[in-house]
Amino acid sequence: MAETVTKTAEAGAPKTGTRETVTVTDNRTGQAIEVPIENGTIKAMDLRKLKTGPEDFGLMTYDPAFMNTASTKSTITFIDGDKGILEYRGYPIAQLAEKCSYLEVAYLVLNGELPTKEQYKEFSGEVTVHTMVHENIKNLMKGFRYDAHPMGMLCSTFGALSTFYPEAKAVRDPDARKREIIRMIAKIPTLAAFAYRHSIGFPFVYPDNELSYTGNFLSMMYRTAEPKYKPNPVLEKALEVLFILHADHEQNCSTNAMRAIGSSEADPYSSAAGAISALYGPLHGGANEAVLRMLAAIGSKAKVPAFVKDVKESGGEVKLMGFGHRVYKNYDPRAKVIKEMADKVFEVTGKNPLLEIALELEKIALSDEYFVKRKLYPNVDFYSGLIYQAMKFPVDMFPVLFAIPRMSGWLAQWQELMIDKDQKIARPRQVYLGKRNRDYVPFEKRG
Ligand code: CMC
Repeated sequence: MAETVTKTAEAGAPKTGTRETVTVTDNRTGQAIEVPIENGTIKAMDLRKLKTGPEDFGLMTYDPAFMNTASTKSTITFIDGDKGILEYRGYPIAQLAEKCSYLEVAYLVLNGELPTKEQYKEFSGEVTVHTMVHENIKNLMKGFRYDAHPMGMLCSTFGALSTFYPEAKAVRDPDARKREIIRMIAKIPTLAAFAYRHSIGFPFVYPDNELSYTGNFLSMMYRTAEPKYKPNPVLEKALEVLFILHADHEQNCSTNAMRAIGSSEADPYSSAAGAISALYGPLHGGANEAVLRMLAAIGSKAKVPAFVKDVKESGGEVKLMGFGHRVYKNYDPRAKVIKEMADKVFEVTGKNPLLEIALELEKIALSDEYFVKRKLYPNVDFYSGLIYQAMKFPVDMFPVLFAIPRMSGWLAQWQELMIDKDQKIARPRQVYLGKRNRDYVPFEKRG
């Protein structure tokens, strides 16, 4: 079983004549236990039976950053990191990107099946009629400084929605969950676009219910005096594809945040605000912004070798942003789809001048032993930023563009959590290595 594969039921299928168990011998005591293997995993709790004596708490596992720990069973997204496979509900990402709209994929991710025509009409209709936000949200937006980062604005205003919908607290009620899921998918583009309009000092544009999900978002971003905004169909489609590629990615940092907060039965707006915060970081959804800043700082194709040298000699301090992934160790299938789409976008927008630097960086990195040995390949963020920039999105909107579609994934994962009988409030253990049993020391006797 490859180390980077999402564990599946097949992975744990019994071989003839063998037991689906592992025997663990505790060499401190000689005690041996036989632990069942299910779906290629053992339960960490089974190890607790290994004790050195009645006072001993029992053996725990130590796994910072969840390097080898499955925190949930899931049926939403499958990734095989070694083979570069990504599937939502069993459908390959490239097929979905080519054939579907984002809302079709959101429905799939949330409900497990592609919608029928009727289901699609109902779902997209519901999302469309919930795109408006309470007028007071505008006041909240206006309270931010002119140069506030849109991701900070999105995170705070999305969390604030929780106060407008107190009924969202009924997280164990399936109907209430369904209602809030529609609202959240509907409202996130509105808040995202409002954040941008605030940053440029333009009036907010209300949603246009006659446009598609992405067409309406573009309208709320860019409409000025024209009575009706007409999105460019190539750019509208490109945004659909980018949204599909970002819809879900199994147990990543922000999804883990969504699940961890949701496990306390917080309302989904509050949980999603936490997920947006997790996404903000440059190692996660903030990487697309960091890539563009990195390319701009490199400045020219001629300076790429010197930059690569800096990365290699920095001992991990300087990173090649948009490269590497915890799970993909061959290639990121999302990056492949984006790269193929980039040319179509550039035909409309003109080439991004940073593309030349990006291509050179990719070429040098992919043939350099440092990157090859560590299995560092371009990830989804390496090229998405170049397209976003060509589409005239400002660099600090890039993580926001990641958050909009990821909302469907967060909500699908949250819903799965809510009905999973194995789950409880998320509460990791720790290995305490600090001091103990000290007596209080008054100020004058310290130091
Ligand atoms: N540039 C240079 N060296 C790197 C990079 C990079 N981008 N990524 C990892 N390494 C090195 C790292 O220093 C380490 O080297 P050594 O073995 O000598 O200590 C080795 O590769 C393994 O890296 P790691 O940090 O153990 O890997 P990880 O799985 O903990 O981190 C990552 C994954 C994505 C956080 C990391 O690759 C990274 O920081 N990449 C740049 C940020 C980025 O592009 N993030 C977007 C991820 S894709 C979008 C998403 O889903 O969030």
